[in-house]
Order: sequence, then C-alpha cells, then structure tokens
Amino acid sequence: MRHLLTLFDLQPMELEAIFTITRDLKEKFAAGLREPILPGRVLAMLFERPSLRTRVSFEAAILQLGGGSLFLGEDVGFGSRESVEDCGRVLGQFVDVIVSRTREHQRLVEFASHCACSVINGLSEQAHPCQALADLYTIREQLGGLKSLRLAWIGDGNNVARSLAVGCAKMGYSFVAASPPGYQLEASFLEEVREAVPGAEVEQIADPREAVEGAEVIYTDVWASMGQEAEKQARAATFAAYQVNNQLMTRALKQSIFMHCMPAHRDMEVTAEVLDGPQSVVLEQAANRMHVQKGLLAWLLGKRA
Ligand code: CP
Ligand code: NVA
Repeated sequence: MRHLLTLFDLQPMELEAIFTITRDLKEKFAAGLREPILPGRVLAMLFERPSLRTRVSFEAAILQLGGGSLFLGEDVGFGSRESVEDCGRVLGQFVDVIVSRTREHQRLVEFASHCACSVINGLSEQAHPCQALADLYTIREQLGGLKSLRLAWIGDGNNVARSLAVGCAKMGYSFVAASPPGYQLEASFLEEVREAVPGAEVEQIADPREAVEGAEVIYTDVWASMGQEAEKQARAATFAAYQVNNQLMTRALKQSIFMHCMPAHRDMEVTAEVLDGPQSVVLEQAANRMHVQKGLLAWLLGKRA
C-alpha cells in the first residue's frame, strides 16, 4: 500500500511520473476536457484543522476525475469517539483513498498503518507534501525546466520548509533556509535529507540576504502556523527582519519568482507589493494544487492517463 506522508515516500522518477500525468490532465482541462478516469472512486477527507486550498482542490480534483468525496470533520470523533487505529481499520474499507490533516504527524503515521487504502498527508505539523509537489511543478512551469536552481526559504523552519527541502533535493535543486535561531530546521533533519538523497544541497543559515543571493525562487510562509496561534505576537517580533519585501527581492536574481503556500498575511511575512507584484506566482501555485493532486490521485489509484 502506497501512502504519501512525506516526500521521502516518493522517488525522483515517481515525482516525474506524477508530473507527466499532471501535465496531460492540465492540458486536457485547459481544452475543456475532464476525462472521468477514476469513476466510482471515493476520496475521504479527514480534517482536524481548517483548510481552503487543500480541501477544495482535492474535492474538485476527484470530482473532475469522475469520483466523489466525503468531508469528515470533528464530528467523526477521530481519536476521541474511537481510537485512531479503529478509525483507520474501518474507514480504509469504505473508501479508495484518504487525505488527512491531523494535528500531530505521529497520529497520521499511526492512522495510515491501519488503513487498507492509500493515505495522503494533507498537512501535519511536520510536513505538507502536496504543497511541495505543486510548488515543484509550478517552479518547473514558471522557470522553463531549469535543471539546477536555488530556492531560498525565508522564515520559519516549518512543515512546508521541510517538504520543500526534501522535494528540492529529489529534483536536484539547491535549498537554503534563512531562519532566526530557535526556528531553524533541525540539523538531524538536514542530515536525513542528505542520507536519502546523496549529494543533496540543503542548507540552513540565519541571514535572509545571503539566502536570496543568486536565488531563482524566493519562498516564505506564515510566521505562526496552525496550532501556534498563542505565539503569534512573540514570533512577529522575532521574525520582523525576515519579511520578504522589495529590498530583499532586489538581492535575488532579476528573473526570480516569489512563492507562498498561502494563506498569506500582507505586510507581515511578505509586503503587499511583493505578494501582489509582478514576480509573484502565488495564484498559479495555488491553482496547481488541484492539477498536481489530480496527477497524484491518478498515479496512486493506478490510472497512468
Ligand atoms: N496552502 C494550503 O495548504 O492551504 P489550506 O490550509 O487552505 O489548505
Ligand atoms: N505552515 C502553515 C501552512 C499552511 C498551509 C501551517 O501549518 O499553518
């Protein structure tokens, strides 16, 4: 049974296979075609946290492929009304694939181990693989298939940063994160990436100006992720010097693009002029969530389009 809990679960050739299906389906979509290649397939969406992009893009994706979806929120009693194990053993028999947004990553790992169908991580505090998949696809689309490039992550060493670090390594891109002390990617995690992908260029530094030097992609995310709301004020002070603004963008390559997984907070982690400016591809990035997830669903469910 194939699960996608982190991008460590996918080999570079598998990323390419998903992107090939994605490209085909996206071209067909643009031409007005929505081939029902997954008729009768059921996707369950088990969410413990709010979502716009992940929820709607997955639901739209499976509908366009001829299947259907079920949204399961708090009322399912995941881990409260019954155990995570029992939820997995039962739910996995009803549906073909599950997207789960859990609070703790470990809960997701446990859940998936009891499911008889594929489980996709729809964001945990450790990883956001579907976001990174769509981001890598967007980077290739926007930068014309550059074989090597530098992605500068500015801000918190969080779930999205981790997934991008693994994804960049698998694509042969170099990844550098600039984060304040205390909010950096763990050295053990970076080591894990280097072990999984020999030759991977993944780096953690403190200075955002150094990170963007020579970078083709500048990426940031919220300073306080879901579940860290109480730390919002303290983090705003710590991260102030990590705001992506025009001054920082001018240090990157002229042709660089700006990315953000959204939701975004204008004039916090990124200024409005950058987020809404000419280098920003955040809307293309969000749109690709649906296209890439169609590719992922088709690939996981054995329809190689
Ligand atoms: N980027 C992202 O995953 O957005 P949602 O939290 O709205 O799903
Ligand atoms: N790092 C953010 C990403 C939201 C899509 C969070 O976990 O809240």
